Amino acid sequence: MSKTTQIAHEIADIKLAKLGQQRIDWAAKEMPVLHKIRERFKKEQPFKGYRMVACAHVTTETAHLAITLKAGGMDSILIASNPLSTQDDVAAALVENYGISVFAIKGESTDTYTKHVNIALDTKPQIIMDDGSDVVATLLKERPAQIPDIIGTTEETTTGIVRLRAMQADGVLKFPAMAVNDSQTKHLFDNRYGTGQSTLDGVIRATNILIAGKTVVIVGYGWCGRGTAMRAKGLGADVIVTEVNPIRALEASLDGFRVMPMNEAAKQGDIFITITGNRHVIDKEHFDVMKDGAIVCNSGHFDLELNLVALREMSTDVRRARPFAEEYVRDPQKSKTKGSVVVLGEGRLINLAAAEGHPAAVMDMSFANQALAVEYLIQNKGKLENRIHTLPAELDMEIAKLKIESMGIKIDELTPAMQEYINSWTVGT
Ligand SMILES: NC(=O)c1ccc[n+]([C@@H]2O[C@H](COP(=O)([O-])OP(=O)(O)OC[C@H]3O[C@@H](n4cnc5c(N)ncnc54)[C@H](O)[C@@H]3O)[C@@H](O)[C@H]2O)c1
Repeated sequence: MSKTTQIAHEIADIKLAKLGQQRIDWAAKEMPVLHKIRERFKKEQPFKGYRMVACAHVTTETAHLAITLKAGGMDSILIASNPLSTQDDVAAALVENYGISVFAIKGESTDTYTKHVNIALDTKPQIIMDDGSDVVATLLKERPAQIPDIIGTTEETTTGIVRLRAMQADGVLKFPAMAVNDSQTKHLFDNRYGTGQSTLDGVIRATNILIAGKTVVIVGYGWCGRGTAMRAKGLGADVIVTEVNPIRALEASLDGFRVMPMNEAAKQGDIFITITGNRHVIDKEHFDVMKDGAIVCNSGHFDLELNLVALREMSTDVRRARPFAEEYVRDPQKSKTKGSVVVLGEGRLINLAAAEGHPAAVMDMSFANQALAVEYLIQNKGKLENRIHTLPAELDMEIAKLKIESMGIKIDELTPAMQEYINSWTVGT
């Protein structure tokens, strides 16, 4: 039976629900850990009577998280964490087939995005699940009266955790925050292998170009940058890394990549991918010297990694070359180099704008962390300090254990003698 009429929503097209359901079912095959957690939640109902806002990229994997939370009794509203990352068919299926309230439309304006954040906060949530920290920041800045209602927040991504740290340093973080990104079973896999594969997937879908033989510049050698550099190399690219952190630069060099400042790399690259969480890492002076036809995109959380305002100002024209590819024609009067620069996905996360985001197999672990982090906040309601916490190491390890079991991988166990040896200091050689 259609639940559409009873469920508050603002989505692109409810008629897409059938396609969305097919894709949600497909993703399920790769999400056994979350499935196991869902079965337990169904029995234990840990979230009965609680309300939450989930702000996330509305993808097939997020659908499984939302369904899992609902199975545990949660009353939730789902909104997009980025204007270009929503999969409209998934949004439709969640409303139509699962009765989950969704406010998210692919390509929504910044005003609509902000409106959805406020609609979600109007539901008076007790838990916030955030991705980039926009919901928490809005609550702290504009709705302080709601702070006492909040049991806690969880945060999915590096950029959100950077913002939470700044809130903590300013003394404004008035509830506990679970840094889901800091679990090993999150960033080691999602950021590295998930972003690595899906970012290249986004570049390829947006351009259909051959990566082999191209010079690919990876800006930022963090977890996401490492994965993307590794995959670009695997596809036959000549990879350059730019960094500001000497340790990360050293690691990139010893991993076999050329490392140089952006001013140099800007002249050499055919494809540029920013993944730093920082602003204007590709700026006017870099656009100024890029080759004709250079392709630029971002896979970091916010679109401000590229200074597109400066690129617009130095261009005579911007024209759509393909879906998700815009050609900025540089003005010879204002630019040192002739020709165009192609920007993919409007500078928004390219893996979600032009492709489908991370594969389900890694989101299985990220969202197992999210589900357990929400449960942890509720189990420890009123007991946690108002600061950033990580999920206990045992839970992180348990997720890894379930994942390898689901993959049919067996590993060794410590013998009592080994256990004794690694816990003692008296035994030497
Ligand atoms: N596309 C996705 O689906 C996806 C997934 C996970 C994380 N993210 C986002 O990607 C970004 C990076 O995440 P991460 O986990 O790799 O973070 P990280 O902190 O591990 O790495 C970021 C790196 O960028 C470097 N950096 C900062 N400013 C720079 C500059 N001007 N030039 C060159 N390097 C610079 C830092 O030194 C650091 O090594 C964040 O915004 C995060 O939220 C995106």
